[in-house]
Amino acid sequence: MSRNITRVGVVGGGQMGAGIAEVCARAGLDTVVCEVDAVAARAARDRVAASLERAVRRGKLAESAARDTLARMVFTGSLDDLADRQLVVEAVIENPDAKTEIFAALDKIVEAEDAILATNTSSLPIMRLGMATGRADRVVGVHFFNPVPVLPLVEVVTSLHTSPETVDRVQDFATGVLGKTVIHSRDRAGFVVNALLIPYLLSAIRMAESGFATAADIDTGMELGCAHPMGPLRLADLIGLDTVASIAESLYDEFREPLYAPPPLLQRMVEAGLLGRKTGRGFQPTTRAEDLVRRGLRGTRPPTGVRVPARRHRGRAGSARAALPAPSRTRTPQVRPVAPRTPQVRPVASAHASGPVLRVRHLTIRMTDALLPFDAPRRRLVGAAGSSRPPGGMS
Ligand SMILES: NC(=O)c1ccc[n+]([C@@H]2O[C@H](COP(=O)([O-])OP(=O)(O)OC[C@H]3O[C@@H](n4cnc5c(N)ncnc54)[C@H](O)[C@@H]3O)[C@@H](O)[C@H]2O)c1
Repeated sequence: MSRNITRVGVVGGGQMGAGIAEVCARAGLDTVVCEVDAVAARAARDRVAASLERAVRRGKLAESAARDTLARMVFTGSLDDLADRQLVVEAVIENPDAKTEIFAALDKIVEAEDAILATNTSSLPIMRLGMATGRADRVVGVHFFNPVPVLPLVEVVTSLHTSPETVDRVQDFATGVLGKTVIHSRDRAGFVVNALLIPYLLSAIRMAESGFATAADIDTGMELGCAHPMGPLRLADLIGLDTVASIAESLYDEFREPLYAPPPLLQRMVEAGLLGRKTGRGFQPTTRAEDLVRRGLRGTRPPTGVRVPARRHRGRAGSARAALPAPSRTRTPQVRPVAPRTPQVRPVASAHASGPVLRVRHLTIRMTDALLPFDAPRRRLVGAAGSSRPPGGMS
């Protein structure tokens, strides 16, 4: 039955919406992406095009397939263009009012009786969104993971009103058409993965906030000590600190457990617009060059002034890795924020499976610096790779 879903709509073309739209179009579906206006729709198109280009560069997609994928997609600033869709996946910001409004509007716009309205929310009750429509039995949570083209998991979340037929159809769609693996969750804030993941991320933020350890050491600890592909603060930066804070609030609203309460530092960073990779600044000052060095790619040069050791690093299985560039003499860090949504090539959201790990610990920056523009005069480089100095704590 799900094979009959050939016309998909995605509302929101940010990092998740663009990814969801891309996998749908790559699966051969006619895909319409709706953003707030024409300018944002154009940005969503650029996001998808950049992701397809990366796939082509890495030999994962033929150039003709990338072209065909984009040709199957329409980017619009009007929800009305979703009228003939059989499945609409909402992926706008994690804000209950914004999402409720969209579901109420989609209910009026989407014509087919059996069309399914799905949400990619990380934490908000599916029931609340269903009740904003006159078709709560066809409203369901379909929670993808970031980056969507890479991570294979989808959580299907059913409210008390979601019909078994709707669940079967989205399950068949996610597995049969998109090739994802589905797990099921009841309609509880955070579902399975975020209910487990978010308290861990918040604990790492509290640890950094209290000065217990540096952000760099917290991430390195979990990457090298537990074989996580990405430490918790880098992962929070990838998810988006606004999204992490919103999920924490939903979890806290639902369960009233202190472990879910967003820490003050997280709140301040969101208020300051330091949202992680999407704004170029968060807990970890990640530039593309740094990311390449992290992954041990040959010939990569660090940003001017970032000190890295000139020794060989060994991969997980002990294989020789690329030699890293010689350390720079200057101590002035020139770490610049990446442009919003610069292609990120290695993020593996919450995947705890084995993967490449950080072998370079070349930079330790005080928390005060992480909160400043990277070109601000107060910045201080306080540690370097191989340094035997204790971590420069957070202030
Ligand atoms: N970031 C993650 O790792 C992640 C993972 C799984 C699920 N999610 C969930 O996916 C959703 C989107 O998250 P994101 O990371 O893509 O956020 P994002 O900020 O990257 O993108 C949100 C997009 O929604 C658009 N938008 C806002 N209001 C809109 C409207 N009324 N109509 C159309 N577009 C609108 C914005 O312009 C923006 O482009 C959230 O519910 C989030 O919780 C996020």
